[in-house]
This record gives sequence, C-alpha cells and structure tokens, in this order.
Amino acid sequence: MSPHGAAPLSVRRPLSGDDVADAAVSVSDDVRRAWDALLALRAGRLAPGDGDQDLGLDAAGRLIPLPPGSADALLSRRGGTIGTADAASEAARALLDLYLPIAAASAERPLTVAHLGQSLDGYIATDSGDSFYVTGPDNVLHLHRMRALSGAVIVGAETVSMDDPRLTARRAAGPNPLRVVLDPRRRLAAHYRVFSDREAPTLLICAEDRVDEAGPAHGRAEVVGIPAPAGRLALDALLALLHARGIRAVFVEGGGATVSHFLQAGLLDRLQIAVAPIVTGHGRPGIRLVARHHISECLRPAHRVFRMGGDVLFDCDLGREAEAPEPADGADASLSRIL
Ligand SMILES: NC(=O)c1ccc[n+]([C@@H]2O[C@H](COP(=O)([O-])OP(=O)(O)OC[C@H]3O[C@@H](n4cnc5c(N)ncnc54)[C@H](OP(=O)(O)O)[C@@H]3O)[C@@H](O)[C@H]2O)c1
Repeated sequence: MSPHGAAPLSVRRPLSGDDVADAAVSVSDDVRRAWDALLALRAGRLAPGDGDQDLGLDAAGRLIPLPPGSADALLSRRGGTIGTADAASEAARALLDLYLPIAAASAERPLTVAHLGQSLDGYIATDSGDSFYVTGPDNVLHLHRMRALSGAVIVGAETVSMDDPRLTARRAAGPNPLRVVLDPRRRLAAHYRVFSDREAPTLLICAEDRVDEAGPAHGRAEVVGIPAPAGRLALDALLALLHARGIRAVFVEGGGATVSHFLQAGLLDRLQIAVAPIVTGHGRPGIRLVARHHISECLRPAHRVFRMGGDVLFDCDLGREAEAPEPADGADASLSRIL
C-alpha cells in the first residue's frame, strides 16, 4: 500500500522497442492504392489539366483523369486544387485527407510540418532520454509515411545522440528524404548512422564559423554552415537553403527543443502532436515557448483529429486559428467518439 492508503500505481508490461518494430501494421488494398496516389502526386506524376476532374491511377502509377462517377477515383481536381474523391473508401479517405497537404506541397507553396509523440502529461522521452517508444506502431508508420512524402527530415543534435536514428522511410514504401541534423557546435561524432550509412544523403547544419573546423564533410555527410546569431541557427536561412535545393515539403521530426525553435520562429505550417496513453510523470518536454500570461494569448490552431491505434493525432493548421470554446450549458455540450 502507498503512504496514502491506496494501492501503488501498477504498470503493465511495457512495449519494448522490438515489440513495436515487429508489429506490422496491416494495410488494405484501397489504402495501398491511396498511398500510391499520394506518392504519384509527390513525384509530380499527374496528367496535365485544369478542368474539374476525378483522378485515378494508371498501371504505370500516374494520376490520370477518370470518367465522371468512376468507382476507381481516389482524388479530385476542382479549380486547380487537389482533394479527396467522393468515391474513395472510408479508410482511403482518412489517409488521403491526412497526407494530401504534404503530398501537394509545391515550389510555389512549400510546406514545413513538425511532429512530436508525447505522453498524456506532455513528455516526449523519460529524463534519461529513452523514447522507444512513446507512441505505438501505427504512429511509427505515420512517421515513415511523413518521411516518404517529404523532401527533407530535420532532427536536433540531441535526438541523434540519444536515438542514433536512421530517418528512412523503410516501412512506408516510398523514397527516403534528405536527412538534416542541426548540430550548431559540431558536437556529434561521425559514427552515428545518419553520418555513416549509405541509405540516404545527410546534411549536417552548423554555425558558419564551425564549417572549416573539421573539414567540409562529416563521415558521409555534407557540412553546411548557416548564420547562428548568439548560437541560435537561423532556421529561416535553413529553409531557404532547402527550398533552393528543390525541396518542397520539410518534416521536422524532433526533439522538443528543435520543434519549439521552429514554432517560436513562426516557421511551421502544420504541427502534429500524437498523444499516447502513457504517463511518464517527468521527462524531456515537448513544446516549450516563451511564457504567455493569459490563455487568450495562447496558440489555438484549427485542427483535425485522427486515431492511430491507441494514440490520437492532432494535426494543427498553424495558418488558421480555431474559435475559442464558448462556455456550454449541459444541453449544448458536445461529446463524440472519433472511433
Ligand atoms: N517522442 C518524440 O516524438 C521524439 C522525437 C524525437 C526525439 N525524441 C527524444 O527527444 C530527446 C531529444 O530532444 P531534445 O528536445 O532534448 O533535443 P533535440 O531537439 O533533439 O536537439 C536539441 C539540440 O539541437 C540543436 N538545435 C536544434 N535547433 C537549434 C537551433 N535553432 N539553433 C541552434 N541549435 C539548435 C542544439 O544543439 P546543441 O545542444 O549542440 O546546442 C539543441 O540543444 C531524446 O530523448 C529523443 O529520444 C522524441
């Protein structure tokens, strides 16, 4: 018994990294086709046209116009904007709705999206830095899908030092992104996998005055210096550099400090927070911004909610504000299940 007389908190056997790695997430045929349509859009394999049309996939994996009312339609084109076709199944529709904004990023409208998987009490790792895994296999698949649809994936130096991630899209059947590591002081050794494997190219981003210190390469990675006033990397310069290299969708995958720097600088278009039903009690924080005094001053973005296995993903559109909730009397209160 605890000092308060209640039974101590008991914890079920935790999922180990292997449990999550081994847990294949089953994907139906219509979801697979919807995914192929997103990859085709990302790759620009889209038949020209500006009229209102429904679109489906041909045998070569290109998006082509379909006869009106076709049951094979996955996407729709209305006035030059790509959306989800009415005929898409419910499972395909959820996938298309979530990923269309990323797949549709263009040179004219590039996109920067950040993601964090956090506990119910707002932590992304334990104090020791263990984060394998906060969220479940469906959210891990989501990360791989985000990588596959993005031209670049960005992480901070601490994530590389703690997790030694590969940052590939290996579970999502899509291309690997350019891997970008923010290491302003060049504190990371060259043995980490992003710097030493051959799976995808890597950029190590450091302060301009650190480029020449150890040469223009770090293992297999290219070293690029950017301005870093007061030691803080100029993230707008980083995005400009990536856009100049033809990258349209940029995915900021963590950790909390890196995502917070992007958010504080006003450089994110979307923020995805996956909340997992786990309580860490203490740990490495997710978002940390300059303190606000009043709730009315806080960010309250428009958002959509997706269920991912046992986790709930808030997909926030930082370009649009949500309405502050009105006080509800009992009769007007809204309660619904997303699954
Ligand atoms: N649950 C999740 O979604 C998730 C995702 C990723 C990582 N993680 C976990 O989170 C932890 C790491 O996160 P973290 O917040 O501690 O660190 P982090 O964001 O991975 O890395 C922070 C470091 O990156 C560098 N950095 C990032 N942005 C910078 C900027 N604008 N200017 C200058 N330097 C910049 C700095 O390096 P210097 O320190 O050299 O100055 C900074 O201290 C690990 O435990 C990892 O396992 C969890």
